[in-house]
Amino acid sequence: MPPVASQPAFGSALLQIRGVTLQRGANTVFSGLTLELSEPRIGLIGDNGAGKSSLFRLLCGLDVPQTGSVTVRGLEAHSVSRKRPGLVGMMFQNPDEQIIFPTVAEELALGLSPSGMPRREAIAQARLFLASRNLAHWADSAIGALSHGQRQHVCWLALMIASPELLLLDEPFASLDQPGQALLGMDIAKARQQVIVSTHLLEHVRPFERVIWLERGQVRADGPGDQVCAAYQADVAARIASQALSYH
Ligand SMILES: Nc1ncnc2c1ncn2[C@@H]1O[C@H](COP(=O)(O)OP(=O)(O)OP(=O)(O)O)[C@@H](O)[C@H]1O
Ligand SMILES: [Mg+2]
Repeated sequence: MPPVASQPAFGSALLQIRGVTLQRGANTVFSGLTLELSEPRIGLIGDNGAGKSSLFRLLCGLDVPQTGSVTVRGLEAHSVSRKRPGLVGMMFQNPDEQIIFPTVAEELALGLSPSGMPRREAIAQARLFLASRNLAHWADSAIGALSHGQRQHVCWLALMIASPELLLLDEPFASLDQPGQALLGMDIAKARQQVIVSTHLLEHVRPFERVIWLERGQVRADGPGDQVCAAYQADVAARIASQALSYH
């Protein structure tokens, strides 16, 4: 993955999570979580079920904490889509939670609607955007006829064309092929916005200035990407070694 752009001209996107408790069904996911997120590139790592997607759902206002607050540039996260559409954009871990329209061009055009662009013009822009990425042949493709990785690619393109001020990417590399991962890595490096990325593919966040390792809803480590990724890998290796012993 190319190095992170040295001085991205991102805005003053600032996220604050203060004393958050989040209950999802019978599970208490966070209990008193406090984090301030202002670096241009932040990685989120941790085991399955650690709370990465839940944190994203709080940041984009999909879930509201039972106690505490989540603010984006001073606005309550759950009010952002109404008060400032275009401030926060999320790429979902599961593309089928994100995609609404039946064709690729229509889905991408949706991202232009907060700007007030008329629908016909938005679809024309979406076609041009696809052509600029050598994907003109995707414009009229039925979403349902794309593979899982291709649908994940569409979600990423939808976020790129919408160009929100804050990009939340939940496991964006998970189903992408090698060229797709490289291209997304370049898009992240070039992005002028603040970008927060969760991933199990540590090479994509190791160069970041800040990576947060979540463990059972708590911050286990928080610091430079190379150090936090190394600590997580060492912990995984130790756990696997002790599990391997118990198999014999
Ligand atoms: N829809 C749900 N209803 C109830 N509990 C949920 C729901 N989704 C997730 N959880 C719980 O919330 C906790 C955090 O899950 P979350 O999806 O945030 O983890 P994650 O770190 O994103 O995991 P993964 O790496 O598998 O994507 C887990 O204990 C999980 O069981
Ligand atoms: Mg997740």
